[in-house]
Formats: sequence, C-alpha cells, structure tokens
Amino acid sequence: MTSNLAFVSQQAAKLPVLSVVVAGTGNVGTEFISLFQRQQQRLASRVNLQLAGVFNSRKALLAPGIDATEWQHSFANADHYQPADLLAYLAKLPAPKVLIDITPSQAFARQYPAFIAAGCHIISANKQGVTLPGPEYQGILSALEQQHLNWFSNTTVGAGIPVQRVLQELQQSGDHILQISGVFSGTLSWLLCSYDGSKPFSEFVLEAQSLGYTEPDPRDDLSGKDVQRKLLVLARELTLPLELTDITLEPLLPAGTELGSWDDFWQNRAILDQFILARYQQATAENKVLRYAATLNLQHAQVQAAVKLVAVSKSDPLAALAPCDNMFVIESHWYQQNPLVLKGPGAGRQVTAGGLHADLAVLAHHVELRSVVR
Ligand SMILES: NC(=O)c1ccc[n+]([C@@H]2O[C@H](COP(=O)([O-])OP(=O)(O)OC[C@H]3O[C@@H](n4cnc5c(N)ncnc54)[C@H](OP(=O)(O)O)[C@@H]3O)[C@@H](O)[C@H]2O)c1
Repeated sequence: MTSNLAFVSQQAAKLPVLSVVVAGTGNVGTEFISLFQRQQQRLASRVNLQLAGVFNSRKALLAPGIDATEWQHSFANADHYQPADLLAYLAKLPAPKVLIDITPSQAFARQYPAFIAAGCHIISANKQGVTLPGPEYQGILSALEQQHLNWFSNTTVGAGIPVQRVLQELQQSGDHILQISGVFSGTLSWLLCSYDGSKPFSEFVLEAQSLGYTEPDPRDDLSGKDVQRKLLVLARELTLPLELTDITLEPLLPAGTELGSWDDFWQNRAILDQFILARYQQATAENKVLRYAATLNLQHAQVQAAVKLVAVSKSDPLAALAPCDNMFVIESHWYQQNPLVLKGPGAGRQVTAGGLHADLAVLAHHVELRSVVR
C-alpha cells in the first residue's frame, strides 16, 4: 500500500515547476523572499514553486532549489557576475520561469526583451519598465505576446493596493473608465495631510525625511515626477498610447528650487514655505484642503492627464485621506454617481512584497492551467 508521504511526493512530481529568479535584495526584495516559503506551501498542491536565483547589482546566487529560509547565508558568499552569465543561466533554466524585478533600475528594465527571449515571464515592482518610451514599451509587449509570456506589475502603483487589477477587471467585465484620479504619493499625502500652517512647510519636509518617508533628497518627491510616472502606468493599463511628456506636471517645488545641492535648497527654503503657505491660506479661506493629485480624464475628445497641487472641498473623497495613504478614485459608466474608491498604504516593504506574491499567485494559476491543458 502506498504511504501518504509517497503519495504526496508522487503528486508533487507531477506538478508543474515554476522557477522564480529574484532581482533586488533591498527592502522589498528581502521581504519578498522571507514570504517565499509560505507561498510555496500555500501553492504546494497546484504548482511546485522553486527559488532558482537571487541577485543584486553586485553578486548573484544562481542555482535551482535555493532554500528561501537560508538564502542570506549562501548569498553572503555568492560571486560577482556578468550580465551575460545571468542571461546564459536564465536561458538554460527549464520553463516555466519568472524574473521578478525588485530593483529601481531603468537600465535593468531595458533588459526585459533579453529576459523574455530567454523564456521568462516578468513581474515588476520597478516602475521603469512600464514607463519606458512608447516604442520600447510596445516592443516588450510584442515580445511577450510572441512567446506567450505574462507581465504583471501591480505593485508599481499603490504598492499592495490592487488598483491595476481592479482596472483590468472593470474593463474585462465591459465597463468603460471615464476618469481615474487620486493621491498616488504616500510622502506627499503625509506632508499635505500634516501641514497646518503652524510652522514652515520645510520643517514638515525635514520631519518626513527623519521618519524615512522621503527619498534621500526630498525634492525627488516634491518634483511630482514619481506621481507622473504612476499616472502613466495607469494610462497604459487602459491601453492609452501616452508618454510621460503627455502628462502635465506642476511640481510642488517653486521654479528654480529643484536645481543645485540640497544645502543650497535648504538656504532658500523660505521660497517653498511661502509658496505652500499662500496656497494653504487660500484653500483654508475657501474651506478646502490641499492635496497633490493626479487626474486622467477620458471624457473629452482628447485624453487629459495632469499632476498638480489642488484645493478640494471637505466633501471630496480626496479630503478624507489618512497621512501616508494613497487613494484611487475610479469613475466609470457603472461607478459614475458614486465612484469606486480604493485607499490604503501606498508604500511599505510588507504590503509591496505581499503585492508581488499576489502577482506570483496569479502567474502560478496560469501555469497550472496551461499544464492541465497540455
Ligand atoms: N519600498 C516600497 O515601499 C516600494 C513600493 C512599491 C514599489 N517599490 C519599488 O520596488 C523596487 C525596490 O524598492 P526597494 O525599496 O526594495 O529598493 P532598495 O532597498 O533600494 O533595493 C534595491 C535593490 O535593487 C538592486 N539593484 C539595483 N540596480 C540593479 C541592477 N541593475 N541589477 C540588479 N540589481 C539591482 C540593489 O542592489 P545593490 O544593493 O547591489 O545596489 C538592491 O538590492 C523599486 O523599483 C521601488 O520603486 C517599492
């Protein structure tokens, strides 16, 4: 009689093996791998998930069957690598396989066509790939289609908030999106929800910096460029042929203050403080609050996309935002009078790593279905 254990291992032997290669061992990458074993167990009856590689910009551990609970020890002794070594390894790895991009690098995202040619599905937390110039982005989509591979990027906007997935489901169900608006930056959300005019805005910026909410140079947040990039990701989710330059950007920084060193900026911080105070006082006089908002409107002959500081009435959904939270307000044919609102933390290692695992679970489901069809 076959023992239970033997039966389980016979079953496991029949399951499709999905090899996972992780690029990036920073905040999110490390958390992603720490959740890996639980995901292996959760999917164990459907797909055999294998950690088959971990690398950062300096070194790589490339071997099938890495123990996700022990990887850091092996990684500490891992070797330097050349991009060609990585590609050769990926090409040899049996399909199905997925490359998970948890780096912030545009140069790395530009290598997606090579990873796809090596047979990899792609999952990205990195926004750079989904916001490459149109022809490059379309080239990646075509390569994926030719090879019957998938690309998931749900964590590039709103971290673990499944905003892209909701947009996909609405469109697949026959709804028509009219407008997407919201607050897509946790840092700017914290700054504008916290600012009450009691002290200069720059002191709030300094506090956000000390709490670890900002980029190393907070002007990278205040420039609004990250929000502009996120709006482009959502526009492309709706298959709109937009480029970054099609999205009007009004930075939270007064003109000229984005240049020079942080010390120069700090010496001239009164310019920023005055800029924000004037807008805050005007908004308060109108019984409104300030928010740094993104809007994509599809109701006119031409798509309108903008990222800017706005004053909203206290009954506006954007007014009811907790500091650090993101909010996505989706108006569609079916959600017109009463928009669909998603809100929650739009950053953080755990929610982002969790969102990547949600993408991985969807891919595992596809892999399982394809193995059944064969
Ligand atoms: N943190 C969040 O809450 C959050 C939320 C949503 C999305 N994301 C996105 O997730 C990504 C990772 O964020 P993070 O906070 O984990 O960043 P991080 O802590 O700075 O880690 C980045 C990792 O990427 C590696 N890397 C950089 N360039 C590389 C390259 N060319 N090839 C291979 N590895 C490379 C770095 O390696 P080295 O150490 O060798 O440089 C590092 O291990 C970013 O794209 C970010 O925008 C983050």
